[in-house]
Amino acid sequence: MSADDQWRPATDVIAGGRDHNDGSLTTPLWPAAVWETSSEAELAALATGHRPDRFYGRYGNPTVTAFCDAVARLEGTEDSLAFASGMGALASVVLALCSSGDHIVATEHIYGGTSAFLRGPAARLGIETTFVDGRTPGAMAAAVRPGRTMLVIAETPANPRLNLVDLDEVGAISGPFTMVDSTFATPLGQRPADHGVDLVLHSVTKGIAGHNDVTMGLVAGERELLDSIWAYGVLHGATPSPFDAMLALRGLRTLDVRMDRQCATALELAQRMSNDPRIAGVDYPGLDSHPQHDLAVTQLRRFGSMLALEVRDDPERFLDALRLVRRATSLGGPETLVCRPITTSHVSLSPEEQKAIGIRSGHIRMSVGLEHVDDLWADIAAALDAQE
Ligand SMILES: Cc1ncc(COP(=O)(O)O)c(C=O)c1O
Repeated sequence: MSADDQWRPATDVIAGGRDHNDGSLTTPLWPAAVWETSSEAELAALATGHRPDRFYGRYGNPTVTAFCDAVARLEGTEDSLAFASGMGALASVVLALCSSGDHIVATEHIYGGTSAFLRGPAARLGIETTFVDGRTPGAMAAAVRPGRTMLVIAETPANPRLNLVDLDEVGAISGPFTMVDSTFATPLGQRPADHGVDLVLHSVTKGIAGHNDVTMGLVAGERELLDSIWAYGVLHGATPSPFDAMLALRGLRTLDVRMDRQCATALELAQRMSNDPRIAGVDYPGLDSHPQHDLAVTQLRRFGSMLALEVRDDPERFLDALRLVRRATSLGGPETLVCRPITTSHVSLSPEEQKAIGIRSGHIRMSVGLEHVDDLWADIAAALDAQE
């Protein structure tokens, strides 16, 4: 495979990350934390070398490199860098690019952990964040303080209610670095770099690895910018495990077919829910009723496997009555999962902060898995019946 090969994403997920397989059809797992050299001079060169992946585990690892190559190809970026988790990626980018006195602009509809990191540790280190409604045209650019704002962070589709941010708008912001958390979309749902965005962040833990057995994060972008994040990352130490990289690459191979099924089921469930009087509201970018459906149609290649619903009655009773759908906080895997944002993904926000970004007690986030749509709907309908 060369950079000139023009394949579709469904082919790239299969073909990518194989450059150093040495004839093995699967990517070799290199569990090594340490590598030896044939001379002292070689060891000395590696210690100050450019992102060596056969030197010391915290600097890089060939199995991780293979995974990063495959995702960079899908994102249409020069390169990518992996971390021990999505939060490891986020913290490393913020602390690599920002110093005390610097300023960040972030969208307010964002994963609770990201919000907590910006409001907590980053603020404590003197890095101030202004949160804006990313749906309001021009709001992100207007919040940029020339000379002080180092980073603009947008999440789209956003956790938990699937609000969107216009990627062209993020890409057009000049001055600070721009980064989009594209976790909900996966690399097959959108390509922020095509819109001029500098960095694309993923919690690989979710759809990319796709089987709830990996904790990992990734940032994709231009090599030079990633080099400086890597130089910081080696000291920060949120190093991904090679075992996780192997599993993530195996998961990536089936991302296209998994997304086909999960997105189709999510749309079908969203449609059934929006016609059910027991449900007060459904958020899904593929529904005509989604306030940003037009943007979803132009920006997303797929509407995604995530939706949010609001039940009219007791959300706890509804969740406890489910038998097939599982109560758990992650997303993007084969099992359909549900959680209440107020008690899980956004529990770090105060009730006032949750309310301000539209998260209410009855909201339930659903990650649609690979089960048959009719079995899922039967389970959901029975749990709704249990409320009456
Ligand atoms: C959108 C989004 N970004 C980042 C993260 C953090 O990822 P991780 O749990 O892998 O640290 C999450 C986790 O739920 C998420 O949903």
